[in-house]
Amino acid sequence: MSPDKRRILTGITTSGTPHLGNYVGAIRPAIAASRRADAESYYFLADYHALIKTGDPARVQQSTLEIAASWLACGLDPDKVFFYRQSDIPEIPELTWFLTCVTAKGLLNRAHAYKAAVDANTTASEDADAGITAGLYMYPVLMAADILIFNAHEVPVGRDQIQHIEMARDIGQRFNHLYGNEYFTLPEAKIEDNVATLPGTDGRKMSKSYDNTIPLWLPAKDLRKAILGIVTDSRAPGEAKDPDTSNIFAIYQAFASADETVAMRAAFADGIGWGEAKQKLFERVDAELAPMRERYDALVAKPERIEELLLAGARKARERSVPALRQLRAAVGIRPLNGQHGKVRGGPAPDRVVSTGHQVPQLKSYREADGKFYFKLTTADGVVLLQSRGFDAPKDAGRLGAALVDAGDDAKAVTDLLAQCAPVGEPVQSIDAIVAALAQLKADKLAKQAGKD
Ligand code: TRP
Repeated sequence: MSPDKRRILTGITTSGTPHLGNYVGAIRPAIAASRRADAESYYFLADYHALIKTGDPARVQQSTLEIAASWLACGLDPDKVFFYRQSDIPEIPELTWFLTCVTAKGLLNRAHAYKAAVDANTTASEDADAGITAGLYMYPVLMAADILIFNAHEVPVGRDQIQHIEMARDIGQRFNHLYGNEYFTLPEAKIEDNVATLPGTDGRKMSKSYDNTIPLWLPAKDLRKAILGIVTDSRAPGEAKDPDTSNIFAIYQAFASADETVAMRAAFADGIGWGEAKQKLFERVDAELAPMRERYDALVAKPERIEELLLAGARKARERSVPALRQLRAAVGIRPLNGQHGKVRGGPAPDRVVSTGHQVPQLKSYREADGKFYFKLTTADGVVLLQSRGFDAPKDAGRLGAALVDAGDDAKAVTDLLAQCAPVGEPVQSIDAIVAALAQLKADKLAKQAGKD
């Protein structure tokens, strides 16, 4: 990880259709923050969390597509950030279990969402846990795993999520304490106080649960219709109106420049009619959304492209999560039996690479979720030296891997072969380290062959 950068991470549950409130309150500020040079941003689609909220598979899939396309259409650059789908990172559920085993049940009993569900049951004279899944109960632990696996420093969330971040801190701290090392960075909630909470069509906060949202990607004429349908008071044109209690003004302000806002304030004082104010609001919102809407429509028309982007994002994120989990497995005692750790008390220091117990470098082939075949060269300690590109046929990956081993300490031959491997992501180590590892593998192979003869 880049030690000098702040890691900022946030997840979006894939259970709904993005609306104007999501755009103003989450998407737009997050994309602005992702351009900060001193930060490393992680944005992910929390589809495991979606399963807690809905049992409708089509909706989870559709929402994943819509949310991914929305973030991309609004300008998220997947080359500059980590943009991935939670379910493509198997280290997250694995860490969830490790964390589950150190989480006090009493802590989860106090979670707001769980308590609210229990209270509702009690009020309805039902059994306290009626209709409550273990998924809802475990929600905070899964969320802690999302955050802790990448050692995020900051988690930008709405106020309703503060408790979850505090729980992630508690859980991470408990793990650190129990296993005797600073394995996890303790995250902090980042509440954007200067980001507007948008009112919905009925004046309450725009939210799916109030059924008062305006979907983000309505065609222009439907967007206009939705805006015309926002409730207002009955003041007639010509009567002065109070901008500070008007939802029309609040939404306008979230899209307008400072100058435009001043002008609208004056128009309210001058008694602008609601019809005209709504028309101006529509024009302002549409001016911002129209170019993005075009990109959104093009993206949604090519879901296979988004799928590819997400898989590439997951590969990049796993360059972090795989080594992190390797270390955590060793920390809790899930270790190869031929290693040294049984003798070590308290586990290895966090900054030390955890030995996998193998004494030689490893060249491993594997298949990814994209169906392609890859190979990876790691040191005896599990540090990734080389990660190949994906090959359509396993034999192509196999042949190149074998050729690399045979090239061994011939740096020139190795360099030529590396060009064909076209490693994905940044090379983790220098060519010297790769050559040294291959030379060791070649010697090992020759020794084994000699042993067989
Ligand atoms: N629970 C968050 C929400 O409903 C979504 C989420 C899941 C999340 N995992 C996360 C947010 C990790 C921040 C960090 O808004």
